[in-house]
Amino acid sequence: MSELNQYINTNKDRFLEELLDLLRIPSVSADSNYKEDVLKAAGFIQAKLLEAGADKAEVCETPGHPIVYGEKLVDPNLPTILVYGHYDVQPPDPLDLWDSPPFEPVIKETEIHPEGAIFARGSCDDKGQVYMHIKAFEAMMNTGQLACNVKFIIEGEEEVGSDNLETFLKDNVDMLSANVVLVSDTGIIANDVPSITVGLRGLSYVEVEVTGPNRDLHSGLYGGAVPNPINILAEMIASLKTDDQQINIPGFYNDVVELTAVERAAMAEAPFDLQEFKDSIGLSDIEGETGYNSMERASIRPTLDVNGIWGGYTGEGAKTVIASKAYAKISMRLVPNQDPDKITALFTKHFEAMAPDSVSVKVTPHHGGQAAVTPTDSPAYLAAAKAMETTFGKKPVPFRGGGSIPIVALFEQILGLKTVLMGFGLDSDAIHSPNEHYGVFNYFKGIETIPEFYKNYAEMSK
Ligand code: BES
Ligand code: MN
Ligand code: MN
Repeated sequence: MSELNQYINTNKDRFLEELLDLLRIPSVSADSNYKEDVLKAAGFIQAKLLEAGADKAEVCETPGHPIVYGEKLVDPNLPTILVYGHYDVQPPDPLDLWDSPPFEPVIKETEIHPEGAIFARGSCDDKGQVYMHIKAFEAMMNTGQLACNVKFIIEGEEEVGSDNLETFLKDNVDMLSANVVLVSDTGIIANDVPSITVGLRGLSYVEVEVTGPNRDLHSGLYGGAVPNPINILAEMIASLKTDDQQINIPGFYNDVVELTAVERAAMAEAPFDLQEFKDSIGLSDIEGETGYNSMERASIRPTLDVNGIWGGYTGEGAKTVIASKAYAKISMRLVPNQDPDKITALFTKHFEAMAPDSVSVKVTPHHGGQAAVTPTDSPAYLAAAKAMETTFGKKPVPFRGGGSIPIVALFEQILGLKTVLMGFGLDSDAIHSPNEHYGVFNYFKGIETIPEFYKNYAEMSK
């Protein structure tokens, strides 16, 4: 066993315990009640970077939650890796669907994780994956094997749109100078199918409000004679998709770049089992845009989904009422070359135009972000592929993911840096859901693979 792997092995229990400590801090960025905890998590990251051997690590204040910046510069002749991740987490609710409390981590075996998985909010997205980088850094430092300079930028607002990180990048272009960005905030296809994400979708997110009568009305006295904003909102939403499940907003597809037949064939190389896909989420049938398979629908095609809808009476029993207002939250996942602001404008114009005169509508945009594609022929990609091949014993498959990490496009725009998305989670790890978990296998596989990346990248950059 290499000296580095020996170090990891000897310190295994501590590496796990420290992650559990981090997971006990409820750093929910969306909820201001957790502001102090978010700050505490930032302080934890800062302290661990310093303990691991960083020259400096700072908690940088922003108008929102802080950004942790740390660095270890060993030699100006070596390449510099900028490691990005986030220590904030999604809200844990609905709490009653968790088998154990979200901020009291427990390790349990599952069918997919026979070596155990850590159950806690943030275990996979993204604290567990961030902490792999800190422990890999510690292992490289303590065995004298840090092969590259490294800068860490670990933010606390990824789950709420990274607004202040954009400003931070713009204000600190020199400090953040590097050769490549390395991110572990994505997944692999399976524990025996290593893979590297080479594309992420963008996002446009809006909230809509439909107003009918100026007050809630008795549905017997008025029903049939007045517009019902809930019925109208439902019809308007239904009309946003065609029978072929294409998005019915004029201009929506204008900037979409179709993949070539060769690219689609290459995508189809990645293993995908439709039955397993259906079974894993309890569906007897699937649906989606005509002309594309499930893998394509969830990665290279844009989509529109209602994420929440409310209005009227939703309490116990029945109440005969016509509500004055109806609401929905609607997200659109975008593909490369679609501009989120432009899509939000197209949506708003269309939604306002199609509303009947009997109601008024208001569209409020939320955060968005640009899609990204990352190269598969760069030294950094090749370094990651070789690293995974070494630790998994199998060449990783490149694949396009369906999720969004808006800052990836900004790393390129603002810092001129390409990103490698070397994540270790599984789709079944239930990120953003109750019972989020992260495989113990995946955690240590990450800690082992990261130093291999540094070594290969230094070698390939010569
Ligand atoms: N880590 C995820 C994104 C992700 C997960 C990408 C798995 C690929 C595979 C990230 O934390 C996330 O949840 N992003 C949000 C967008 C953000 C603007 C709130 C998303 O994709 O919904
Ligand atoms: Mn994440
Ligand atoms: Mn997330």
